[in-house]
Amino acid sequence: MLTSIAGRVVLVTGASKGIGKGIARVFARHGARVMVVSRNLAEAQACAAELGPNARACAADVSDWASCQAMAEATVDAFGAIDILCANAGTFPQTKIESMDPAEWDAVMATNLKGSFLSVKTCLPHLKKSDQARVVLTSSITGPITGFPGWTHYGASKAGQLGFMRTACIELANFGITINAVLPGNIVTEGLADLGEDYLKTMAASIPLKRLGSVDDVGNAALFLASREAAYITGQTIVVDGGQVQPESLEALNA
Ligand SMILES: NC(=O)c1ccc[n+]([C@@H]2O[C@H](COP(=O)([O-])OP(=O)(O)OC[C@H]3O[C@@H](n4cnc5c(N)ncnc54)[C@H](OP(=O)(O)O)[C@@H]3O)[C@@H](O)[C@H]2O)c1
Repeated sequence: MLTSIAGRVVLVTGASKGIGKGIARVFARHGARVMVVSRNLAEAQACAAELGPNARACAADVSDWASCQAMAEATVDAFGAIDILCANAGTFPQTKIESMDPAEWDAVMATNLKGSFLSVKTCLPHLKKSDQARVVLTSSITGPITGFPGWTHYGASKAGQLGFMRTACIELANFGITINAVLPGNIVTEGLADLGEDYLKTMAASIPLKRLGSVDDVGNAALFLASREAAYITGQTIVVDGGQVQPESLEALNA
């Protein structure tokens, strides 16, 4: 059992569904007080209601400075502190370079990359007051390690999060705050499940552990990085992908 999660206040962005909901659920299960954030308030509230009495919800757009400030304030109003920020909100439209409108590039960067910066910046004054402050970013294998056609903007934003983290970890260390990132591979979320059995089977076959990840798999990695046991780890990444990035070829996968 990882220590010092019970009673901690965790703010999870993009928590109304998918990986963020999984992260929020894992922390709630370990006794944390959880602020569920998404742009859609009703969905955030529904998620908080599922998590139980120690969860609250608020609406915020992480690409917007004022909205992020309101999100941090709402968390402190509800719980009196912010100990852990899980900056998870992300968007991943799939469009190849030739047909991509520059506005789509900007929108992906605004949520995924600038949103990470704004979330950290608005939570920082509160994290500084915590004796075990943590930031966990949700990046991806796509960008930092792998590529996939249609995701140049997404991959750049996810690699950019790690560039941000590697300098932020030095700045935040002055306040005793750690910042690390989880890099999910293919994780079963509501959206992915809609792609159908055949698609999921083909994807699973490309992964050494022969299954897609669960949102709990990512939540458990985030939980570890937020625990007292991870106190000396900062500026690092945990890949949560069932070994997907390791085979050097199809032959290696099936040998
Ligand atoms: N699923 C995967 O296999 C996978 C793999 C690698 C990395 N990831 C990363 O994991 C994170 C979550 O992905 P997911 O698959 O769980 O996505 P998802 O199911 O589409 O959920 C995205 C969440 O983010 C919220 N959101 C989107 N834009 C936002 C914004 N500007 N401000 C605040 N909230 C926003 C959404 O709610 P609203 O729309 O109501 O705001 C929702 O709660 C992303 O950072 C993604 O890049 C996912």
